[in-house]
Amino acid sequence: MTIQWYPGHMAKAKRLATEKLHLVDVAIELVDARIPFSSRNPVINEIIGQKPRIIVLNKSDLADPQDTAKWIQYFESHQIPSIAIDAQHNKGIRQLQDLIRKIMVPYFDSQKEKGIKPRAIRMMILGIPNVGKSTLINRFVGRNQAITGNKPGVTRAQQWLKIKQDFELLDTPGILWPKFEDPVVGQRLAITGAIKDDLLHMDDLALVLIDYLKAKNPNTLIERYRLSDNELHELTTPELLLAMTERMNLRDDYEEMSRKLLIEYRRGILGRYTLDPVDEVNGYDINN
Ligand code: G4P
Repeated sequence: MTIQWYPGHMAKAKRLATEKLHLVDVAIELVDARIPFSSRNPVINEIIGQKPRIIVLNKSDLADPQDTAKWIQYFESHQIPSIAIDAQHNKGIRQLQDLIRKIMVPYFDSQKEKGIKPRAIRMMILGIPNVGKSTLINRFVGRNQAITGNKPGVTRAQQWLKIKQDFELLDTPGILWPKFEDPVVGQRLAITGAIKDDLLHMDDLALVLIDYLKAKNPNTLIERYRLSDNELHELTTPELLLAMTERMNLRDDYEEMSRKLLIEYRRGILGRYTLDPVDEVNGYDINN
């Protein structure tokens, strides 16, 4: 489901997320590992404020592992703990829990000094649509999910999901809006499937993706869509799309070919690619 965002919806989402943040010890900011910058909410820092947080790069199975490592290094160089996971295949979840425990050590130590008994770490997940929030909640909870019910003192009908002995997770994530202003960001969000396809021109996106793949890994196009080396170098991008359409026996239905290309990219069939290069944001202060 993709949500249409209007100023009123954004203000409401921001208010809800801010209210929920008061209830938790740590915020899990979920992003798409293929677009760790483009899939961040534009005012996330304002929303999270000084609360401890982790940036979790989900769908790392679809992203270039080397680029993912660079992004983690980038976030950590800005003092934001960061980790890559693949929620769909249940990878990295235990490591994420360990990282959360580690981050919370100073907080619980200081509580202990004040004579306050340690309790479960309360957390929530925030992110734009389709980054995998629900999938991660399910992975955290596992099969034997136990909903603990409302806590006294919590005014909203908020459910806490108990995870192991030492975590409690808000059962509804904070859903935030993506960046809209920059057309390049918009294209990357669209290519990865963060924006409903009905709203998009698939052929425009396919042309962008063909150019990208041509630069990154031309053999993918040659092998998968039966193009020749010559064609790849001599044809324009729209001509390449038409040649692929014909080779895939789709006659002249280049829109169908565009859909096929995007689906295959999104499923990882063409390989693992990160669309946001870390170099693009180097020098940009993500804490502001
Ligand atoms: P949301 O709550 O943030 O909106 O996201 P949700 O969990 O619904 O996940 C969106 C899609 O992303 C789902 O696919 C889900 O299976 C997939 N997904 C989540 N985590 C991962 C991951 O780590 N790796 C991969 N490869 N996929 C992941 P879906 O239900 O098929 O939706 P769609 O693909 O039709 O959008």
